[in-house]
Amino acid sequence: MAAALGLAGMAIAQDAPMFGGEEDQAYAEQVWQAMVDQNLAGDGAIMSFPYPGTDPHGMMLETFYSSATIDGHEGALVVKRNYGPEGVTVDQVLGSPGEHLGAVTVMFMREAGYDDETGNWFYAKYLPDGSLDQNPNGVALAGLVGKNADAGCIACHQNAGDNYLFTTDADMGMMMME
Ligand code: HEC
Repeated sequence: MAAALGLAGMAIAQDAPMFGGEEDQAYAEQVWQAMVDQNLAGDGAIMSFPYPGTDPHGMMLETFYSSATIDGHEGALVVKRNYGPEGVTVDQVLGSPGEHLGAVTVMFMREAGYDDETGNWFYAKYLPDGSLDQNPNGVALAGLVGKNADAGCIACHQNAGDNYLFTTDADMGMMMME
């Protein structure tokens, strides 16, 4: 009986969206503001030298490593800009980034206990204007996107290694400004 109840509980937990609720959306808004404050997003954002990418992130990419303080917690902030369309060149991206920016995908390391199992990363996918992108079901892409799922940020990034990052094996838990 207890086992049956346990299974039913699990089914309910899986049906409820694990991300994209009001709290996640509000948190994502704060993360975007922190990026604007650091000149990592918004009008006149700093540029680095774009490099070729692949699906799902885009044909030209930029990646920035920083840290930010949200609600009194300081954590690593990794920002990826995703440019397109296919065939876009470095010169086109640098010459008119706004015209080629498709999305901004972000990982912010939250406080211990947020989701220890997956390294406490908060995921968000923004459109160039800072609003959140949505999945096909209309759920905002913010929070533990793709956890326990076949697709989505975590479903893929969990294959990147212990730190959930593809570009580096660095321990981002140690990446603080102090
Ligand atoms: C199918 C796999 C896949 C999915 C899904 C995916 N990513 Fe990635 N992501 C990658 C790969 C591969 C890279 C490395 C790209 C590069 O060469 O810079 C990457 C890089 C990143 C980076 C730079 C840090 C790093 O890992 O080195 C961020 C931030 C990021 N992704 C955020 C997201 C977010 C947010 C989502 C969900 C909305 C997402 N990703 C979905 C594969 C994926």
